[in-house]
Amino acid sequence: MAISLRFNHHVLTSLFIAITLATVKSVHTTTEATTTTTNTEFVKSSCTFTAYPRLCFASLSTQASLIQTSPKLMAHAALNITLASAKATSAMMVRFSNSSRLKPREVSAMGDCIEELGDTLDELRKSIGEMGQLSGSNYEVYMSDIQTWVSAALTDENTCTDGFEGDDMNGKVKVFVRGRILVIAHLTSNALALINHFASIHG
Ligand SMILES: *[C@@H]1O[C@H](CO)[C@@H](O)[C@H](O)[C@H]1NC(C)=O
Ligand SMILES: *[C@@H]1O[C@H](CO)[C@@H](O)[C@H](O)[C@H]1NC(C)=O
Repeated sequence: MAISLRFNHHVLTSLFIAITLATVKSVHTTTEATTTTTNTEFVKSSCTFTAYPRLCFASLSTQASLIQTSPKLMAHAALNITLASAKATSAMMVRFSNSSRLKPREVSAMGDCIEELGDTLDELRKSIGEMGQLSGSNYEVYMSDIQTWVSAALTDENTCTDGFEGDDMNGKVKVFVRGRILVIAHLTSNALALINHFASIHG
């Protein structure tokens, strides 16, 4: 009898501990899930300030846990993604222009475009640098720099695309380059919109 009671007591204790742990775990998981949802919702609602909200969400929802609900981190992450994408495109265009049999007119347009993408990379890198150091005392100057550089990056991308206009260009090359640059330009436009949004609520 005594043994059976002790046994039952142990069983009950273990059961109690198991239930307690399960409850703690479930509360914890629920909190995490709620936070994840909140972060993702924040990214989604911030994307409504951009001209390409679907691209914005597709490119930034994976960064939701990093961004949390900070408009500043949202703008910073958008710049990071734009830089990474512009870097990849630039490298791809260098390879493409070296390996393909392009007409002289295309080689020349490609060369100009690669140069303009290089300027874009510089402008994005400088913007990211100042974004990371933005503080109360330098806010006005840095924010103005960032807005200027990101706008310049957008102009450089459009100049690159313009070089591929005209009927003397190979259709495939034209479509390929314009398609890639268009994505970069849209990502840049989105980043600028998120920067301007952050600036507007910062005051
Ligand atoms: C942006 O990239 C830098 C380094 O490349 C990283 O340290 C930083 O956490 C990133 N920030 C966001 C918000 O993605
Ligand atoms: C492409 O060609 C240029 C010279 O035309 C050369 O400087 C560069 O290293 C080459 N890049 C690659 C990735 O092959």
